[in-house]
Amino acid sequence: MAKVKASFFCQSCGYQSAKWLGKCPTCGAWNTFVEELIQKDEPQQGSWKTSTSKQISAKPIEIKEIQADTQERYKTIDNELNRVLGGGIVAGSLILIGGEPGIGKSTLMLQISLSFKDKKVLYISGEESDSQIKMRAERVNLSEQISMIDSNCYILTETNTQNIFKQIEILEPQIVVVDSIQTMTSTYIESSAGSISQVRECTAEFMKYAKETGVPVFLIGHITKEGTLAGPKVLEHMVDTVLQFEGDRHMTYRILRTTKNRFGSTSELGIYEMHAQGLREVSNPSEILISQKDSDISGVTIAAMIEGNRPLLIEIQSLVSVATYGTPQRSSTGFDSKRLNMLLAVLEKRGGFRLGQQDVFLNITGGIRVDDPAIDLAVCVSIISSYNDMSIPQYCCFAAEVGLGGEIRAVNRTEQRISEAEKLGFKQIFVSKFAMKGIESKKYAIKISSVAKLDDVFSELFG
Ligand code: TYD
Ligand code: MG
Repeated sequence: MAKVKASFFCQSCGYQSAKWLGKCPTCGAWNTFVEELIQKDEPQQGSWKTSTSKQISAKPIEIKEIQADTQERYKTIDNELNRVLGGGIVAGSLILIGGEPGIGKSTLMLQISLSFKDKKVLYISGEESDSQIKMRAERVNLSEQISMIDSNCYILTETNTQNIFKQIEILEPQIVVVDSIQTMTSTYIESSAGSISQVRECTAEFMKYAKETGVPVFLIGHITKEGTLAGPKVLEHMVDTVLQFEGDRHMTYRILRTTKNRFGSTSELGIYEMHAQGLREVSNPSEILISQKDSDISGVTIAAMIEGNRPLLIEIQSLVSVATYGTPQRSSTGFDSKRLNMLLAVLEKRGGFRLGQQDVFLNITGGIRVDDPAIDLAVCVSIISSYNDMSIPQYCCFAAEVGLGGEIRAVNRTEQRISEAEKLGFKQIFVSKFAMKGIESKKYAIKISSVAKLDDVFSELFG
């Protein structure tokens, strides 16, 4: 009989200890140890065992001889997913997709599963019943390529990994999707589904399966209240690729971001739109994000951003009005509110604008969160445009950081931002004077206004 043994696990990093500890010695978190039952005698090498499986083991290769594209990649019909994965799904890779509940992880993976015509896909669900999945599959019919009729997709509603591998051996799928890893349980571990040791063991089993058979496995993972992937950090260490699916649940845009990728760059980004018929790729996000502007309204500006590796033009709206109740309100959506307060202070002190008695509301349209400092100038101009109630010409956009002295600072990849603005039909872009080194402005049809101070921008725009 197997001996049942308990052990304590840090819920934040997965550190294992024989006794309870107040503070985790590895990650330093307090009060995170929880007792979980594990079985020590049972072999823990995972339930994926086949005698016929060929071992894929790594050999040292001289770096200059490695070709970037030696791995076999399956291209999906979803170009956004291909891009974030670095050019397609790598055979034998383990891909974790994290995101808040209801953001659309299951929808995305079901769409991908349905789109493969020539590959057998197994979609394992521990969260929904067969009929629920069927209903969803009927719903997602955005394009002819995503349809149930000629798909090659099998559904398995099971949570026990041993049973799953039994079915896998019979079916021999070429792609496996697990929705979600937190619902899976392995018989070798006593503790309940979703606990650190279960999540770790199940992931290890799927990893072993993926590496030995070369079948790519997608794991859907939940996100905790704090915004990290539920389960230990070790989960992120174990998988090859970590994708984050994010966005405002009430807005239609969703962003798929790579936070770790052993087979590609981590600064890639995919943008989707959630429709009643599923997720649709947005191949030119700028056009959608700024299309809703047809008349001159004050407080609206366009910033030339870079998200990941992708230039992106987004719209910023602000509303400045006299505060009627005592303390003025400052509120921002999609933009750091501390940074907003800083920019307001700069405008007050360096620009002489009396914003202290004004309510300021700032909104980045489309529900996108922005961290690129190149948005600063567009934010400042938007606020002053609303304050003065003077609109900014529609053909104008901005790409620069604003410093505490009111100086306009250079941002990276200015050239790329200029080209994107030009491509989208803008006629003028404001950038920092210090970003112009090595940029030939004559090359562009767009007028490049290089400025050094906030005052220069305001005098040009507002006279
Ligand atoms: P879901 O994929 O279940 O999210 P997750 O697996 O990340 O928890 O997506 C759920 C949301 O998406 C749900 O609130 C309804 C919405 N939705 C649509 O708007 N259109 C659709 O075609 C589908 C399938 C879902
Ligand atoms: Mg789901």
